[in-house]
Amino acid sequence: MYNVMIGFADDFAQALKLSRETEIPEKVTINGETLDYTETPNEILICGMGGSSIGGEIVRDYSWDSLEVPLRVIQDFNPPASLNKHTLVFIVSYSGNTEETLYCLREALKRRARIVAITSNGSLKRLLAKTGIPFFKVPEGYPPRGAVAYLTIPILVTLEKIGLLGIPCNEYDETMQLLRDLKEKLSVETPINQNISKKLALELYDTLPFIYSYKPYSCIASRFKKQLNENSKMHAKFEELPELGHNEIMGWQYPSRLNNFLSVVFLRGKGEHPSIEARIKFISETLRENGVKTCEIKGLGYSKLVNMMSLLYICDMASYYLAALRNVDPLPVSLISRMKTFVEEKAFNRNQLESEIRKLILQ
Ligand code: F6R
Repeated sequence: MYNVMIGFADDFAQALKLSRETEIPEKVTINGETLDYTETPNEILICGMGGSSIGGEIVRDYSWDSLEVPLRVIQDFNPPASLNKHTLVFIVSYSGNTEETLYCLREALKRRARIVAITSNGSLKRLLAKTGIPFFKVPEGYPPRGAVAYLTIPILVTLEKIGLLGIPCNEYDETMQLLRDLKEKLSVETPINQNISKKLALELYDTLPFIYSYKPYSCIASRFKKQLNENSKMHAKFEELPELGHNEIMGWQYPSRLNNFLSVVFLRGKGEHPSIEARIKFISETLRENGVKTCEIKGLGYSKLVNMMSLLYICDMASYYLAALRNVDPLPVSLISRMKTFVEEKAFNRNQLESEIRKLILQ
């Protein structure tokens, strides 16, 4: 698992190269109907679960202030009623076998939407690889959450290729360069006093962390929460500013014995609005007065992308070091796997769903 996680710097560069090489055709004919990928969509839906949804969250937050087409991340069986033939739908599943995501694929096909698939294997690969539908083949052998670069960059690059998003080349270059430098600084060989991830892990050890952030960094706070769940096998909570200032903070009003076991991490980065800065100052002071441990991690570099990706790298590695401190194996997610098997035995008929999807493609 260590190699997967510290390898993010290399994956980022490789995923960018592979994504740029993958062709987005102008037109695709599915089931007698020709879909025009050059037409501007009315809406973008990114369907995926768990580790396969983080790419969607990153793209959503990154493009929040520049993308003129509404974009939603769908973590469910049912896509929204707005899905129609003017929608562009990303179907993202690392394994290619995730039930919820396959249901979204069926619905996207039924409603004749344009589809872009991102997967390494499984039902998705079996069903879509030879259809002509744009298909990003993710390398095999990763735990899904470890393939984050390969599940994010294809979405960004597709949106660039179809002219909906413009990411200056120097943002990518700066990000690749800075991640390469960080690789050594976050590595297991770098001692704790020079290693931000190890320090963060130690701060959070034996606490229930609350992770607070704001756009475009909220997606990284959400990612960190999930990495603490899956890698470090612990609970964590995530809330977003400014909304949390209208409800969540009331939970901190009174000192409590429980506060000794809680911690709050603020994830911050370039472009912070003065009103957000003031809120963080107020909340940090209140927390300290009430005996709650607080710390903050700042994104590095100049551009938005590098700030986001450096935060992600630092937090990911912190979740790895926390697993080590807690003496748990960061790799297996046995409860998740057992639940999937249970559901497949009790409720989910994969063969039937696959055959329904096949019919929609081949009719
Ligand atoms: C496992 C992990 C999970 C999976 C999720 C969906 O590493 O991160 O959250 O990502 O169960 O499975 P996939 O990604 O295969 O669609």
